[in-house]
Amino acid sequence: MPLVDMRDMLDHAYRNGYAVGAFDLVSLDFLEAITDAAERCRSPVILSLAESHFEHYDFELAMAATEAAARRAEVPVAIHLDHGASLDSAVNAIRLGANGVMVDASHEAFLDNVERTRAVVAMAHACGVPVEGELGYVAGVEGEDAEKHPGEVVYTSVEEAKAYVKRTGVDFLAVSIGTVHGRLRGRPKLDCERLKRINQELRIPLVIHGGTGLAEEQFRRLIANGVAKINYYTALADAAGDRIRANAKANGAAGYTTLVRGVRAAIAEEAERCMRLWGSAGRAAEVLMQCRPWRSLQHVILYNVEGAGDAAVDALMAEGREVLARIPGVRRVVTGWAVPDKPRFRFCWLVEFASRAVIESYRDHPLHRAFADEKFWPLAPDRVSVDFEALDVRAEAAPPLRRAAN
Ligand code: 13P
Repeated sequence: MPLVDMRDMLDHAYRNGYAVGAFDLVSLDFLEAITDAAERCRSPVILSLAESHFEHYDFELAMAATEAAARRAEVPVAIHLDHGASLDSAVNAIRLGANGVMVDASHEAFLDNVERTRAVVAMAHACGVPVEGELGYVAGVEGEDAEKHPGEVVYTSVEEAKAYVKRTGVDFLAVSIGTVHGRLRGRPKLDCERLKRINQELRIPLVIHGGTGLAEEQFRRLIANGVAKINYYTALADAAGDRIRANAKANGAAGYTTLVRGVRAAIAEEAERCMRLWGSAGRAAEVLMQCRPWRSLQHVILYNVEGAGDAAVDALMAEGREVLARIPGVRRVVTGWAVPDKPRFRFCWLVEFASRAVIESYRDHPLHRAFADEKFWPLAPDRVSVDFEALDVRAEAAPPLRRAAN
């Protein structure tokens, strides 16, 4: 089970002086390339999905594939929502399998940023999920020329960073010290003195957005000053784009699969270069040993009903599926009738939680309280329940399916 607690993963990087790459993926080619690169150099990796890219793919389908890739990986993996715009975005990402979320309210005034971030932290921590906040503003747009988006960079202030972390409780802080999102001409000038002071004051893993285009020496200085997570996308997209253009040039009538031939290998090569440069390569085994595995928790209830007919039971189940699924940290609600007929218990609920932390927040959530106290418990006094942490049988038993890079 190589999904690991992302807080543990970044704490390990922070303490040991390296950075984990958070590579934004926009297709299966990216997903496979990034995981292939991590496996090749035995590196922990963060599979990152940015809300700004959701117009290009179906987030729910992409998360299913991302989770499947993480499960079959042999290196430690975390799944992260990048640039989440709202509390709902974070709730949804956790429901779909993210075990780290970013809330990006960095364009807002300080107090509004604090308020929005605090709400996400309260919800995510109740699910066991760590949160990245951002203070200061990193301009630009991933995958595009930075100079086309000349929004003003706002540098992170050391004093505000201290107050922000204290008041929000974020686990990691994205700082603005001169990087921009997207493609650059030349190198940005980084304010590493500012970064050093932020690191001395906060002592939590720091995050750099806009990793594309920095020099090797710049990366080394960032990591030496507390950066434990580097967000990276444009250079991967450009490696893919170059390969597609070369394929189109070589074969003007090329169809889709011919056009994308070699794209995975090109992305993987660039991702692997980063993992080696940032010092995460070769760390997989110690991260797996030292970090808690990230496991969902299955909450099972077997029950009989007294004083209600079958139609009323069906209605109760339908209401429960709808209501309970809205509680943060609940990944799915499954209900059913036992087969064959006449077992000790006739009915069953299976509620899947993102992690064991959700047991408490679920129990106390007003939606659960109202449904359980008023509807379910009075009808079902004869019941047993058990919670268990899920080990994925398929992933444990089946040999990983691997194929050569295209
Ligand atoms: P680049 O596209 O500049 O590498 O930045 C990626 C990023 O910061 C995603 O959050």
